[in-house]
Amino acid sequence: MDLTSIMKNRRSVSVYSDKPVSPSLIEEFLETAVYVPNHKLTEPWRFVFITDESKEKLAEINRKIAVEKNKVTDPEQAKVVSDTGYEKIKSIPFIMFVINKLHEDEKLREEDYAATSCVIQNLSLLAEEEGMSVFWKTGKLSDCEETRQLIGLKDDERIVGMLYIGYPSKVVKGVPRESAKNRIKYI
Ligand SMILES: Cc1cc2nc3c(=O)[nH]c(=O)nc-3n(C[C@H](O)[C@H](O)[C@H](O)COP(=O)(O)O)c2cc1C
Repeated sequence: MDLTSIMKNRRSVSVYSDKPVSPSLIEEFLETAVYVPNHKLTEPWRFVFITDESKEKLAEINRKIAVEKNKVTDPEQAKVVSDTGYEKIKSIPFIMFVINKLHEDEKLREEDYAATSCVIQNLSLLAEEEGMSVFWKTGKLSDCEETRQLIGLKDDERIVGMLYIGYPSKVVKGVPRESAKNRIKYI
């Protein structure tokens, strides 16, 4: 696939086939993905790969979040909500966290976030080329206290994203974007 097709085909997909994701392949992608523009070459990122043992813990955290969010009183319904929250995470083939060291300079902190976002996009495109999807998540599970503890987030760090990675089990149609031409002004 050429780069244009890879970019246009990339989708955030949440339904995966049983095909496992090789962590060493993701490591390989990251070796390339970090070649992003990065002001002052701060290289502020680090990555946490979730093993099966940690995925179990993350699934339990999501179980609690699902129960809190849905506020169901009926015990049977509560069990369904709780198990769904748990299973949702268990079914994701590979989960990783992208973490940023917080620069003391506010401007560089913002630029570091931008550079790290570029790393995630690079990773997404490399994954797309291999038939995988990277889904960038920033919801409650990605950044609650329990998750922070689980992944060992330090005081001078922030979570840029929790990434779900897998081989999609179906083709998901793209959301059309407005032509960029409409956003261009020659001055
Ligand atoms: C910074 C960032 C945070 C995101 N957080 C979430 C999220 O928490 N939950 C979610 O479902 N999608 C999240 N997304 C993914 C977008 O919803 C998704 O990219 C968008 O719907 C467009 O779909 P596509 O990626 O398939 O083109 C996030 C994307 C970005 C860039």
